[in-house]
Amino acid sequence: MKLAVIPGDGIGPEVIAEALKVLDVVVPGVEKTEYDLGAKRFHATGEILPENVLPELKQHDAILLGAIGDPSVPSGVLERGLLLRTRFELDHHVNLRPSKLYAGVTSPLSSNPDIDFVVVREGTEGPYTGTGGAIRVNTPHEVATEVSTNTRFGIERVVRYAFDKAKQRRKHLTLVHKNNVLTFAGSLWQRTVNEVAMEYPDIELAYQHIDAATIHMVTDPGRFDVIVTDNLFGDIITDLAAAVSGGIGLAASGNIDASGTNPSMFEPVHGSAPDIAGQSKADPTAAILSVSLLLAHLGNAEAAGRIEAAVAKDLASRTAPASTVEVGDRIAAAV
Ligand code: IPM
Ligand code: MN
Repeated sequence: MKLAVIPGDGIGPEVIAEALKVLDVVVPGVEKTEYDLGAKRFHATGEILPENVLPELKQHDAILLGAIGDPSVPSGVLERGLLLRTRFELDHHVNLRPSKLYAGVTSPLSSNPDIDFVVVREGTEGPYTGTGGAIRVNTPHEVATEVSTNTRFGIERVVRYAFDKAKQRRKHLTLVHKNNVLTFAGSLWQRTVNEVAMEYPDIELAYQHIDAATIHMVTDPGRFDVIVTDNLFGDIITDLAAAVSGGIGLAASGNIDASGTNPSMFEPVHGSAPDIAGQSKADPTAAILSVSLLLAHLGNAEAAGRIEAAVAKDLASRTAPASTVEVGDRIAAAV
């Protein structure tokens, strides 16, 4: 296996070191290429994503990414120029974000909720394409537009992925959108889901507006199995999903090109957390679970399962707060 590694900014390098520690135990001998990208590189050379990088990334089987973004760089420069550009150019149209409340993990929700669902977030369209603009900037009449792009092709491929996921799970799929206001895109999403549904007669379908979905994620998360939604709704709802299922330190994700043309990229849902960077305080679990998703994606279900089981075992026995390295060591030992 050839793995490209982008540790990135803030706590990224710390959590990636632990994730690789665990990977080395389950799958020894992976050939790794590290890419030094992010805020430091940007300040030193002005480079965000040098021209050679994307073609080189394509030569790998998968990519593992830590976190991108730093307060010393204007908001959006690295996010757009590095993270989103990679997702777009490698056609990562599925952003897979599972949520599970593991035994021993405390949810801020009052009862002991039953949480085990997967958000299939569209990854290359919606309001993320950077279409729009501003006029009369810095005048009292400034106007800013952000355009949400939704294509039949783009929706259908992510919807198909979501149906396939639901088929392997509890056979329930919820479309989350806002079709009472965003009527053009909402209608296209709903019609696409309805048409694809005809090929999956055993999948039960539901629809929820994004605002109502945030209520149900808190009051009744057990109703969700697979959620399919657009790029921005998916971004927001997966932070909420992480919060109710043990915190952002546990949430893993995969940016997947389901066609298999390009390598998929796995990363914790959390950001670079500059406030705690360099202090060995970050929980590496999300990065470690991202390695599990990566291995599952590459067809190594056995290794993926071993990592998940080791994480579950560790979560069940956590008592006092532990350092990044201690958590990584414990999971590597349990694996
Ligand atoms: C995420 C992040 C990114 C996103 C940002 C950093 C561009 O919030 O992966 O959820 O919005 O997709
Ligand atoms: Mn996000």
